[in-house]
Amino acid sequence: MAAKTALITGITGQDGSYLAEFLLDRGYRVVGMTRRTSTEVHERIEHLMGAIEIVSGDLLDQSSMTGLVAEIRPDEIYNLAAQSFVPTSWHQPVLTGEFTALGVTRVLESVRSVDKKIRFYQASSSEMFGKVVETPQNEKTPFYPRSPYGVAKVYGHWITVNYRESYGMYAASGILFNHESSRRGKEFVTRKISDGVARIKYGLLDKLRLGNLDARRDWGYAGDYVRAMWLMLQQPQADDYVIATGRTHSVRDFCRLAFENVGLDYRQYVVEDARFVRPAEVDLLTGDPSKARRILGWEPETRFEDLVEMMVRADLDRLRPPTRA
Ligand code: NAP
Ligand code: GDD
Repeated sequence: MAAKTALITGITGQDGSYLAEFLLDRGYRVVGMTRRTSTEVHERIEHLMGAIEIVSGDLLDQSSMTGLVAEIRPDEIYNLAAQSFVPTSWHQPVLTGEFTALGVTRVLESVRSVDKKIRFYQASSSEMFGKVVETPQNEKTPFYPRSPYGVAKVYGHWITVNYRESYGMYAASGILFNHESSRRGKEFVTRKISDGVARIKYGLLDKLRLGNLDARRDWGYAGDYVRAMWLMLQQPQADDYVIATGRTHSVRDFCRLAFENVGLDYRQYVVEDARFVRPAEVDLLTGDPSKARRILGWEPETRFEDLVEMMVRADLDRLRPPTRA
């Protein structure tokens, strides 16, 4: 059987890089879409450059999307591209809507016009649950988004469901809870902490300034979560799945453990700073992944404690000062 082709939007992001590795291991031809920039720095996929194909396109541009889908004729499309940082969505609400909400429709329209048999994955988010109406959250829990980003993701989720129901397309929505790694952007809280811990350990930073330490998240490992994306597109029928660990921890817990990894007490270094507090907060997220376990056979393999250690160790290695000869 000929190798399958996957088109990944957002390949330069955290999840794109792990998904590309995962699909290459399964013998896929992997094509990644990147948007045009004046400097070509794609550090998360540098090691894959010989193995994947890179094509140019933008979620804001319908003709580039449709042209790519017609030219590549993928079997599967993973739509991971988005403006994904929640605080930026208050500063750039319209752009966030264009990328994160309408961008999904543009990709779906490309599929609809080129070949409705192409399988489509949408990167939906636990941010859609926002001010949660029940705990834990499952596929049937009503949404109550708390940021322009969350609102845009609700649109992306429902337009995916709508194209499935309107046109019989294979369109699946993965409602993924927070997932992290050493490739996480440094503005997200887990990576900000692991990077801060390493800098403090090496004397490069005095204090780590954070916002709300009491916010709770269901944190998993990105490498485990891309496997769930793929599994969703291998089922007889498209559906929606919550992907989570089912365990929740506070930002404070993450700090405590991360500092303990280098023998320090977070209370001496972490400073609460109002600049990082959000206009509206998502206080608590806990996912119920039982549908994914039952139908996809998916389980998270990485424990929270191991994730924290992995991230701190990676930043210690990255920032370690050169030893004098
Ligand atoms: P990320 O690291 O921020 O990556 C986002 C990707 O989207 C980057 O490759 C970025 O390209 C690309 N992109 C942004 N705007 C674009 C545009 N207009 N056209 C083309 N590409 C564009 O995000 P991530 O953590 O990998 O997350 C992947 C997806 O899952 C996102 O949709 C995110 O919202 C969603 N999600 C993430 C989590 C999580 O915890 N990580 C949880 C639930 C859902 P550049 O490199 O050019 O900026
Ligand atoms: N970024 C950040 N920086 N967050 C902080 C800080 C800080 O200094 N201090 C406390 N926090 C709290 C935030 O208020 C939030 O409650 C929590 O830490 C997590 O923030 P982020 O790591 O920025 O992630 P997020 O939960 O807002 O969004 C991520 O997960 C979503 C899934 O639920 C992103 O990856 C989204 O794209 C994704 O959809």
